[in-house]
Amino acid sequence: MLNFTYHIPTIIYFGKGQVCALEEELRPRAKKVLIVTGQASAKKYNIFEDVIKQVKKAGIDYVELSGIEPNPRLKSVYKGIEICRKESVDFILPVGGGSVVDAAKTIAAGVRYDGDVWDFFVTDAKPEDVLPVGVVLTLAATGSEMNGNAVITRQDTQRKLALYTPLLRPVFSILDPEYTYTVDRYNTAAGVVDIMVHVFEQYFSRTPAADVQDRIAEALLKVCIRYGPVVYKSPENYDARANILWAGSLALNDLIGDGKEGDWASHRIEHELSAVYDISHGAGLSILTPSWMRYVLGPETVKKFVDYGVNVWGIDSGKPDMEIADEAIDKTLEFSKSLGLPTRLGDVGITDEHFESMAQRAIETYGSLGSFRELGKKDIVEIFRMSL
Ligand code: NZQ
Ligand code: ZN
Repeated sequence: MLNFTYHIPTIIYFGKGQVCALEEELRPRAKKVLIVTGQASAKKYNIFEDVIKQVKKAGIDYVELSGIEPNPRLKSVYKGIEICRKESVDFILPVGGGSVVDAAKTIAAGVRYDGDVWDFFVTDAKPEDVLPVGVVLTLAATGSEMNGNAVITRQDTQRKLALYTPLLRPVFSILDPEYTYTVDRYNTAAGVVDIMVHVFEQYFSRTPAADVQDRIAEALLKVCIRYGPVVYKSPENYDARANILWAGSLALNDLIGDGKEGDWASHRIEHELSAVYDISHGAGLSILTPSWMRYVLGPETVKKFVDYGVNVWGIDSGKPDMEIADEAIDKTLEFSKSLGLPTRLGDVGITDEHFESMAQRAIETYGSLGSFRELGKKDIVEIFRMSL
């Protein structure tokens, strides 16, 4: 296990009706709040109304920014920064899924910065003075409610990039499973697969003896495999929604990643794909991750796939290693398929047209990808081809 500092200060209010915690959380922290929402869902399903009640009870002024896109755009972030400066906003409150939360965090990073907030994504510049962010989460997927990441798309250059700073970890997050009841099947399934791939990115690692992290990771995967089909078929099953929601937060809040070297190749390849094609992140991962698994599987990596196959899928440990690994990868793909997600690029109408340029951009940005197995441009193109 590697050295690490574990510090996850986000206060979590988990469960039915926890939105009532907003009043007490906001009162000492804020004078004027920017409430950030997506295209429609927060208002349509009355979550926004619940939030406004609390903000009013706390006696706090608010302004709104609505219309944040899935795969949130830089131009919406600029709009938010402008509002905050004009209105002297001192607290940002996203009400939505990961896209809304990420846009809110990036606004928080940009308000007190003299330069262009995009600098934080493409240069070594780091946010130093950010506005505090508190979250009301409505979709289980990204873990953004408990981590310091934000992923933003700049459309004119087709770049989708991530910013990380611990300063952007939300000060609190409200996680009410009932708020996720209305997420449609497609986005529910995409969220479940995103959660699983966050676990894979940290689980498939060459760092030895991180058993604590790995056994927790396996438990999170088993929760997704058990409850994913339940939330898909019965969207108002409270216990299933609750387990998926909490798994989503724990999968990407450093709990299973601290002390290990992460891989993140599937994510970086997927970000290139959704930057160009604007598909759902979870759907992109559903297509690419099994191909990544097949590509990196070899004599040096097979043991980890055996752990995955035996401990997560219950495959007979007496079978030959390669057979277990193959079966585990098949099961991973079949699981996504059973949740109605695409598993081939052709399913979402993507051809080989941009494989080279997407791979090239990934390499220009990151040098090489992955650590479980290091990937260069040719490897990335091959993973795209295997996903056709
Ligand atoms: O825009 P609205 O109307 O709110 O609709 C959204 C959107 O269409 C809808 N939705 C959300 N909550 C709902 C709901 N519909 C009904 N009822 C509700 N309660 O769901 C759709 C998808 O929402 P979005 O926020 O885009 O999904 P998700 O949470 O999966 O976020 C995806 C974004 O996060 C990034 C992805 O790349 C993508 O841009 N990621 C962020 C990470 C992070 N910050 O740590 C890590 C991830 O790996 C990921 O890259
Ligand atoms: Zn993800």
